[in-house]
Amino acid sequence: MGKDFYGDLQLGVLGGGQLGRMLIQEAINYNVNVHILDPDKNAPCRKLCNRFECGSLSDFETVYNFGKDLDMITIEIEKVNVDALEKLEEEGVLVYPQSRIIRLIQDKGLQKQFFKQNDIPTSLFQLISTKEHLTNANLSIPYIQKLRKDGYDGKGVKKINSLADLETAFDEPSLIEEWVDFEKEIAVIVARNDNGDVATFPMVEMEFNPEANLVEFLIAPSTYGFDIQQRAEELAKKIANDLQIVGLLAVEMFLTKDGEILVNELAPRTHNSGHQTIEGNYVSQFAQHLRAIFNLPLGDTRCRSNAVMINLLGEEGYEGLAKYEGVEEILAMEGVYVHLYGKKFTKPFRKMGHVCIINDDRELAISNARKVQEILKVKA
Ligand SMILES: Nc1ncnc2c1ncn2[C@@H]1O[C@H](COP(=O)(O)OP(=O)(O)O)[C@@H](O)[C@H]1O
Ligand SMILES: [Mg+2]
Repeated sequence: MGKDFYGDLQLGVLGGGQLGRMLIQEAINYNVNVHILDPDKNAPCRKLCNRFECGSLSDFETVYNFGKDLDMITIEIEKVNVDALEKLEEEGVLVYPQSRIIRLIQDKGLQKQFFKQNDIPTSLFQLISTKEHLTNANLSIPYIQKLRKDGYDGKGVKKINSLADLETAFDEPSLIEEWVDFEKEIAVIVARNDNGDVATFPMVEMEFNPEANLVEFLIAPSTYGFDIQQRAEELAKKIANDLQIVGLLAVEMFLTKDGEILVNELAPRTHNSGHQTIEGNYVSQFAQHLRAIFNLPLGDTRCRSNAVMINLLGEEGYEGLAKYEGVEEILAMEGVYVHLYGKKFTKPFRKMGHVCIINDDRELAISNARKVQEILKVKA
């Protein structure tokens, strides 16, 4: 990099939510100047960055103008205008992850084709453009239908259980895939810098809240056998190398009941499944992402302790100005770390914060996490 980044570097982040907020906490340590673009004038990063611009992430002009005087751009959300990023890249702005990778990952259909072309194990799938195609699908019911674009947190994912469900299926370009009766959802976060150094965080296990369709409970390190963990981590490294990504890549996978690992989807950024690294590992995912995009030596990803991460979701039945219940009570517990995201308004299942629970004893970490879940509430 031509510029001395210790103090001079102007880093733009597309998206100013909680991921951007936690990235800023680390960027401060490197004297980096952070510029944020987000459509919400109340975004969690608004008061914490060197420059906050309120504007659309999907508008070409807005993204281009935001980025043209910056040294480097990264993202905290994939739904951004990639044409603008491509132009910025051509003009010499460093864009990490690279625009071609964001373009690929924005489309779950292209992601699946990429898996197939690179011999990355994934469930069987078929691409369709309207719901008429479902009547003669190559897959047998039940299967999962996913919108190719713009889905997140389970929105844009539907299970087709019967012929009757075809009526309410998505009528847009989508992907249908075999329903995987998995044993566990697992994830590995991998980082790659421009030198080609690659490092994975230890595999984590995720517990989903089926109602909210969100990870609500995450446990690290995993207690699955070395062989499974090693296979998951090698797969993540292979994908990072196949993509030649610079930055962080979260790889969501299914561990099937017969011990097979299937890749579900990728996120080329910091991820909800890595929040526990802030307290639980020697280097956090946020610090690692900065090391990767600045082409610095990657940090030590080992776990320091058992960590359980729970998402703090807006309580059902409450919508409005957020009020927090039970914070003092949980802070009195050992090894409990609270992260509030600074969102003014709560609504059911909105991600309002997370809590990391650390303990040398894994079972205690889990039972303390359950207590935290019962005590801590976001209401209005
Ligand atoms: N093929 C599948 N079989 C079974 N469950 C699935 C399958 N695909 C997705 N899911 C479930 O739906 C969740 C959301 O799907 P995902 O593709 O990760 O979309 P999103 O972009 O919303 O995270 C997954 O975390 C998993 O729990
Ligand atoms: Mg997912």
